[in-house]
Amino acid sequence: MIEIKSSLEIESMRKASRVVAQVLLELKPRVKPGVSTAELDSFAEQRVRELGAVPAFLGYRGYPATLCVSINDEIVHGIPSPKRVIQDGDIVSLDMGAVREGFFGDAAVTVAAGRISGAARRLMDVTSKSLEMALSKVKAGARLGDVSHAVEKYALQNGMSVVKEFTGHGIGRHLHEEPSIPNFGKAGSGPVLKTGMTLAIEPMLCLGNAEVIVKNDGWTAVSADGSLAAHYEHTVAVTDEGCDILSAHG
Ligand code: MF3
Ligand code: CO
Repeated sequence: MIEIKSSLEIESMRKASRVVAQVLLELKPRVKPGVSTAELDSFAEQRVRELGAVPAFLGYRGYPATLCVSINDEIVHGIPSPKRVIQDGDIVSLDMGAVREGFFGDAAVTVAAGRISGAARRLMDVTSKSLEMALSKVKAGARLGDVSHAVEKYALQNGMSVVKEFTGHGIGRHLHEEPSIPNFGKAGSGPVLKTGMTLAIEPMLCLGNAEVIVKNDGWTAVSADGSLAAHYEHTVAVTDEGCDILSAHG
């Protein structure tokens, strides 16, 4: 069952999601060569708490940090470490969730460290735009497959591949709720979207083929061919008019 949230519940989700957006915004200029991913994580945890929320990933199924930091061929769920230092030319995906008033927000961005290659820039742009394409399909009466298909179509048109092992998800009182939101699928298929549904939409794209390997740490998902990956995510609410981006800045 896909839960419908009241407008009061959606306002709590907006508070949680805005904390995420704010902290991601503050992290961006801190993604620089020489900075360790553990430093980014401790900054994120401190800021989430200062802003009156609780880190959502910390302790989730044993995940040990506030932030997921996934560099270059790492797709998602990179675990912060003092030993992992950002290098010039890296692309760095930051993924974070927060809880406030019992409701979750979840968002991700990919950030360039120093001077990155043209291919890396294109991957970031196409992934970010594929999220926009997905959001543009969100509206009461549309189908979930319209959203999934929009990501896949835009990615393939631009020569990128779509990760199939991980999906977006419903979100609310739990980090992961129904429905699962693949980044591929058939337009006109799947559940009908209704006003008050809240979704975390998160395209993960690769430059090469998008086969995934999970490392021995049990979390870090990398592209099997070592190709670069990017990841963007927003928490949104479905409305009669379209899409209310809860994790937008502001
Ligand atoms: N945005 C990711 C997701 O929705 C992050 C989860 S990391 C975890 O699945 F540690 F919480 F699992
Ligand atoms: Co998510």
